[in-house]
Parts: sequence; C-alpha cells; structure tokens
Amino acid sequence: MINTEIDQITQVEEKIGNTELYDFSFLSPQPNVKIFGKLEWQQLGGSVKARPAFNIIKNAILNGDLHEGKALLDASSGNTAIAYAAITKELGLKATIVLPENATQERKDILTDLGAEIIYSSPFEGADGAQVLARSIYEKNPEIYFYADQYNNDNNWKAHYAHTAEEILAEVQPTHFAASLGTTGTFTGVGRRLKEVLPAVNIIGLQPNMPMHGLEGWKHLETAKVPGIYDPELADQTEFIDTSDAYNTIRQVLSCCGLRISPSAAASLTGAVQIAEKINEGTIVTVLADNADKYGEVYKELEL
Ligand SMILES: Cc1ncc(COP(=O)(O)O)c(C=O)c1O
Repeated sequence: MINTEIDQITQVEEKIGNTELYDFSFLSPQPNVKIFGKLEWQQLGGSVKARPAFNIIKNAILNGDLHEGKALLDASSGNTAIAYAAITKELGLKATIVLPENATQERKDILTDLGAEIIYSSPFEGADGAQVLARSIYEKNPEIYFYADQYNNDNNWKAHYAHTAEEILAEVQPTHFAASLGTTGTFTGVGRRLKEVLPAVNIIGLQPNMPMHGLEGWKHLETAKVPGIYDPELADQTEFIDTSDAYNTIRQVLSCCGLRISPSAAASLTGAVQIAEKINEGTIVTVLADNADKYGEVYKELEL
C-alpha cells in the first residue's frame, strides 16, 4: 500500500459520518417521550449508505481485494450504488452496479454522472433479483470483479457498530432505537453496540406493513430474501409502517422545519411516533436514511 493511496482513503473518510442528531420531539404524542433522528444525508453520496459502502471499500483495498485491475460489483436499488460510485470515483476505482430496470431516471442519471457502469436486472424482481444477477455475474468473472455483497458483508453492519452507534451515544442515552430493515446493516450494527452499552435499550425493527409499498430501501422480511447479516435475536419488537402515514409525516416535517425528507426517513419517524404512543417516557432514536433529492416524483405526487 503506497502512502498516496492511504492519504486518498483518509481524505474520503473525512466526508463520511458525523451527521447531525436532530430533535423531532415536536412529533411525539407524549410530553415525556423525546424523538431524535440522525440526518444521514449529510455525508458523501447523500445517504446512510456512505458508512457501509466506505467500510466495505476501505477493507477491500487494504486486503488487496479491490484495486485498479478490478471493478467493485454489487446489487443496489439506489443509495448504496450512489455511495459506491461516489467513493470509487474519489479513489480512482471502478464500480459496476446491478440495478433493477425500473429504478427512477433520477437515480440512473446520478450513477451515470458519477461514472458507474450499470447492468439492469428484471424490473419484476426488485432488489432480490438484482442480488441474484450480481452474484451470477461475479461467479462467471471473479478475476475482473470484487463482489462487495452488501447483504452478507460484515463490513456493512460493522460501520454502524463503530460509528453510527458511537455518534448516537455521544449525544443521548436512548431507551429505544428504531431502524428500517433493508440490508439490515443499520439495525444490526447500531442495535448490537447499543445493547452492549445499554443492556436495557429496546431495539425495534421497522418494516412496511405490506409486500407492495412505497418505502424505497425497505424490505418486507416475511416476503423478501432475508439478508445474511440480519440478526433476528436483536429485535425486541417490530413496528409496521403504512406508506400513506409516512407521506403525512413528510408533510408535517416540511411544514414544521422546512426539511425535505425521503419516504424512508419519514417512515422511520412514523415508526418512532408509533413507539412513543405506547410508552410514557423515554428517548427514541431513529435514522433518517436520506432526503428528498432523489424523490422528485413523490414530492410531485404530494404536490409539495
Ligand atoms: C432509503 C433507504 N432507507 C433505508 C435503508 C435501509 O438501510 P440498511 O441497508 O442499513 O438496512 C436503505 C438501504 O439501502 C435505504 O436506501
């Protein structure tokens, strides 16, 4: 490893994490229950996926698995792809993304602008279909790709264990932590660390309330491929979120604070409110995966 490469990695690392923990207690139905959300769009690539993408890439470079002669390959419906593309661009490396063909044009344009190669998977098979295709491409061409495999890569959840959780603990002592389940990296990493430090903390998995939903990045685990990094032992409770309730939260947060949040971020806050309705006091922390930048169509539909 030459010093210039290490310098480059350090420069990118400075653009990852250290996001604001925002006080959303105005949404709480109970005066003694506080709600906080981490504004994860405040980092390179504009989403929560900057942390795991960077940790996966950094470790692959340090292990010699990723270099100029190999392209990073993975399946992603959006945010991880953008994070991979933004980070590899800064490091002078290549990224190949398997993306469901029905991803929005906004997303395809961002990836193309960042110089990523896109391979389309079936629009009918969603994120699970993209994952199957990515694995088969890798198995046929292991010499030209580093397969990042975010659904099974421990460097995904470890990024949240080492950083997201520690950033939360530096500011508050949560009684409840609620996270959406996509790759489940946020849930597993933050959940594991918080349980070690605060054994009484309640860890809540958030899921859409039906298989067909509008919550980009979320999995309905009962009907989806369960990620290898998911730790079912961690969940004390599950909350199911209706997409239309998340849309109402988008309106509330915009009119209250001028923040333009994504359906996913709004659904995480909706989950926190549902938890607050069941307790008398406490501090609920959740993670707001991204903002509205890639959701022009939703904001148009909501006339916002
Ligand atoms: C918008 C959005 N929300 C939630 C998630 C879920 O995060 P995780 O993969 O850590 O479970 C993702 C993951 O890609 C996402 O893009």
